[in-house]
Amino acid sequence: MEFSIKSGSPEKQRSACVVVGVFEPRKLTLPGELLDNASQHHLSDIIRRGDMEGKAGTTLLLHNVPGTLCDRVLLVGLGKEKEFREKEFCQAIRIAVKTLNETGSFDGTVFLTETPVKKRSVAWRVRQAAIVTQETTYRFDQFKSKKDEVRRPLRKLTFAVERRSELNPAEDALAQGLSIAEGMALAKNLGNRPGNVCTPTHLAETAQKMAEEHGLEIQVLERSDMEVLGMGSLLSVAQGSIQPPKLIVLHHKGGKSDEKPVVLVGKGITFDTGGISLKPGPEMDEMKFDMCGAASVLGTIKAAALMKLPINLTVVVPTAENMPGGGASKPGDIVTSMSGQTIEILNTDAEGRLVLCDALTYVERFEPDTVIDVATLTGACVIALGHVTSGLFANKDSLARDLTDAGEEANDRAWQMPLWDDYQEQLKSNFADMANIGGRAAGSVTAACFLSRFTKKYDWAHLDIAGTAWKSGGEKGATGRPVPLLTHYLLQRAGKLN
Ligand code: BES
Ligand code: MN
Ligand code: ZN
Repeated sequence: MEFSIKSGSPEKQRSACVVVGVFEPRKLTLPGELLDNASQHHLSDIIRRGDMEGKAGTTLLLHNVPGTLCDRVLLVGLGKEKEFREKEFCQAIRIAVKTLNETGSFDGTVFLTETPVKKRSVAWRVRQAAIVTQETTYRFDQFKSKKDEVRRPLRKLTFAVERRSELNPAEDALAQGLSIAEGMALAKNLGNRPGNVCTPTHLAETAQKMAEEHGLEIQVLERSDMEVLGMGSLLSVAQGSIQPPKLIVLHHKGGKSDEKPVVLVGKGITFDTGGISLKPGPEMDEMKFDMCGAASVLGTIKAAALMKLPINLTVVVPTAENMPGGGASKPGDIVTSMSGQTIEILNTDAEGRLVLCDALTYVERFEPDTVIDVATLTGACVIALGHVTSGLFANKDSLARDLTDAGEEANDRAWQMPLWDDYQEQLKSNFADMANIGGRAAGSVTAACFLSRFTKKYDWAHLDIAGTAWKSGGEKGATGRPVPLLTHYLLQRAGKLN
């Protein structure tokens, strides 16, 4: 789809469809009033007759509105003006795009981006509108032999701003929104691909192509390289599978050469059977999503590259398949991590932390400013926070705050959980330096505590995205989260958030 920004009056738009909002009860937004005046109260007549009350989620498509240059006018209900916030704004954009796409408009001019949202800038509205639009039209049909084509899909979308002085910030925000959406689409595509296609090798090949396309530096460590480095923990996860593990490293060098990088580490278990501690059958297919942490950090570096962010960003993906093959780890096995610390594997299904800990030691060599790992780490996090917010842990409160703020701004929230020492004792092992599980209580906290033993040398945060990375049920599929949170964090650091 093609996008643009415009400032101008709605009645003068030569467009297949002009979209304006209506508040509840029966109150036109400003662009709506302009159209109403130009059309000798065509719109207010319709509203007075009760065809459009302004209820959130409702639409009314009008043809041949007098006094206008467009073919159609789409009215979108926004709910009560006082309650019009981020969520309502995004819902209005979503329903507008969906309707435009289904009603045969080739192009549309959306005036909803002129409607103020409390505490949010024009740039925010446009960025968000671009992201929501791309989300709404996203389809994953790579494996469908018949693609369901929209008959006359929307090809051109224009977001309107009220003042000419807003054109520049809005255009920057549009470019940002589209880059973020591309990062999310990559994350979703990788997440949605089945485990027999999206293997560690596939992730490495995808990263390789991305590096060539965007001028990123890349290294892919093979099993033998990891053996030399002493990554006994990561390797133990891969040893039950015939798929070879990989450690993917990508660098986006947009900042000064002496500037310390932000490092993102993503869990890349391309399928998690649980290993010898085998998972139960129902819904096990969803464990193809266990590489969504990896997908999200790859999506984030893609977005950063597209935006040419003036920062140094490194992405590290430890990736393996967790299978119960003949060579698999057994409960009670003890492995030595790259850090030298030994781990008793009491449950082979707690494999995420086993691949992450070696990656977190490996990244020390980049002398990071900040390290953030992203992982579908624990079912316990879903119990604690549901599918609304990601779990956030950090060894530095200001970093937790920055990430929480980024999540708020991006409409991709995270909620801080405790990382107090009191929990560490649950990881005690009689036979090794630590066990890889901490019992049923506070499962997502003890998982984070495990990781914290490998991240003492830098500022670090951990995002548990087990509840947010994908949806189950009828709308089963990857969400692209937390690409929005991560990209907003980076935009903020780069001073590029308006
Ligand atoms: N990938 C899972 C976590 C998961 C489970 C995410 C369900 C989303 C939905 C992870 O590897 C895992 O199996 N964790 C175990 C840890 C336990 C053995 C301590 C879990 O959460 O049950
Ligand atoms: Mn597992
Ligand atoms: Zn897992």
